[in-house]
Amino acid sequence: MTRSQTIQKTSNMDSPLGEFDPSRLPAHIAIIMDGNGRWAKLKGLPRVEGHAQGMQTVRTIVEECSRIGIHQLTLFCFSSENWKRPQPELDFLMQLLECYLVQERPLLLEKNIRFSTIGRKEMLPSSVQHEIDETIRVCRDNTGMGLCLAINYGGRQEIVDAVQKIASLIKDGSISVNSIDESVISSSLNTNGMPDPDLLIRTAGEMRVSNFLLWQISYAEIWVTEKPWPDFDIATLHASLSDYSKRERRFGGLKS
Ligand code: FPP
Repeated sequence: MTRSQTIQKTSNMDSPLGEFDPSRLPAHIAIIMDGNGRWAKLKGLPRVEGHAQGMQTVRTIVEECSRIGIHQLTLFCFSSENWKRPQPELDFLMQLLECYLVQERPLLLEKNIRFSTIGRKEMLPSSVQHEIDETIRVCRDNTGMGLCLAINYGGRQEIVDAVQKIASLIKDGSISVNSIDESVISSSLNTNGMPDPDLLIRTAGEMRVSNFLLWQISYAEIWVTEKPWPDFDIATLHASLSDYSKRERRFGGLKS
């Protein structure tokens, strides 16, 4: 299948009629939220307006995933490569994250949503670090859906950090070289304790994984929509779930 055929196929599934089978939901959905800038440009707005609208979409999708019983939702908010953007856009994104964390705490509490982040937090402005810590503190007793924001996150960087952790465990004699297996690596990653994503959604049509959860998405089903993130809505989420529920997952085995 060519790239354009694949995109056309998924675009056709962006139907508001997308019905999904609640008994075949992914436990973990990971989303690469792309296309904020293009959305704004098409409307003749500054790029940052796309990010502001994207924050509204985050609220809608978090609420809907929690409502339908998704176990874990991980959102790619800011990559370790995004620091290359112009300073005013970086400042806006950091302020938006801070604002999101403060504004959404009541909703996270009301919906019993667990909260975590992945990525190198220490490089973020101290005000953002503070709001992350506060949100984790406030949500610590929640037991519902897990919401994980990937902020200053890079998959390769995460693997480098994991290798360093494992190397120091070997150095201090806590584990032996031969005891390194997949579970040791998985538990050394930022996502320790989360199931691997079953469904990876990417908005705005690009066919790449952009250094997101490289180890964890080994067997994820990938679903790409042409819609930019600010236009991603509940109907589109349902369309992705409908398609996911029809996929046959073989994990390298044979048809059951
Ligand atoms: C990609 O669009 C999006 C980002 C780099 C940031 C994602 C941020 C949000 C969705 C809003 C903030 C989220 C929270 C939780 C407050 P792009 O700018 O790369 O778009 P383009 O590819 O069209 O230029």
